Amino acid sequence: MKILVGNWKMNTTPEEGISLLEKISNLLTNEVVGDVRVVVAPPSLHLIPSVEKLWENPEIAVAAQNCHHKDSGAFTGEISPEMLLNSEVDAVILGHSERREYFKETDDLVALKVKAALKHHLIPIVCVGEKLEQRKSGTFLNDTWTQLKIALSDLSPEGLADVVVAYEPVWAIGTGEVASPDQAQEMHAFLRGKLKETFGTGELPILYGGSCKPSNADDIFAQPDVDGGLIGGASLNADDFLLLVEKLRKS
Ligand code: PGA
Repeated sequence: MKILVGNWKMNTTPEEGISLLEKISNLLTNEVVGDVRVVVAPPSLHLIPSVEKLWENPEIAVAAQNCHHKDSGAFTGEISPEMLLNSEVDAVILGHSERREYFKETDDLVALKVKAALKHHLIPIVCVGEKLEQRKSGTFLNDTWTQLKIALSDLSPEGLADVVVAYEPVWAIGTGEVASPDQAQEMHAFLRGKLKETFGTGELPILYGGSCKPSNADDIFAQPDVDGGLIGGASLNADDFLLLVEKLRKS
């Protein structure tokens, strides 16, 4: 399955967000989309208006950028997976490196969130990826697999079938420095092999993320184990995002 996710991060006012979504939705014809599953992940405040806006265009799914692992309770500032489900949100990005870095999310916490998301029928988009020092020291393959193995621990084969993985090397996120197509393919093939070995299936979509944009996407999307992209900066521009959808469709 080919998937393109736009991660807007903490960008756009509600008005700007809806106008961006309107632009994407208007330009996204059946012809452009083809077999690509298109997902947008706006800031939490825009989730409900985005879902409502997209009633006219069910081709686009909506994802949250994070959620808590409990259903409800005294967790000021948090949003529960149950709330997302009830708001008709389809998916949730979990374990993004910015959550890990700035909000101290651990592998174990990400695992709890993945389980909670699946329990509420949300598709978890599980982010993993190495830091620059891990790439330099040569431990990046196993370090990234460890993150993923913990995030998916205790999942049943049925649970695993609904998971989307995003490989995002931390050194490539928002830096303009993109992994080379070979680097992306090496990691994706490695993770797929490990998934197969450990869970008996490697058939999960594995997306690449990190400074992916129209000028570098062709070679990345052409890699056999790259099933799509998790796009930050370039997803804030409707034309670029649409171009990426087209490139993925043609890959
Ligand atoms: P970027 O972000 O495309 O701006 O590098 C990707 C991401 O963090 O998901």
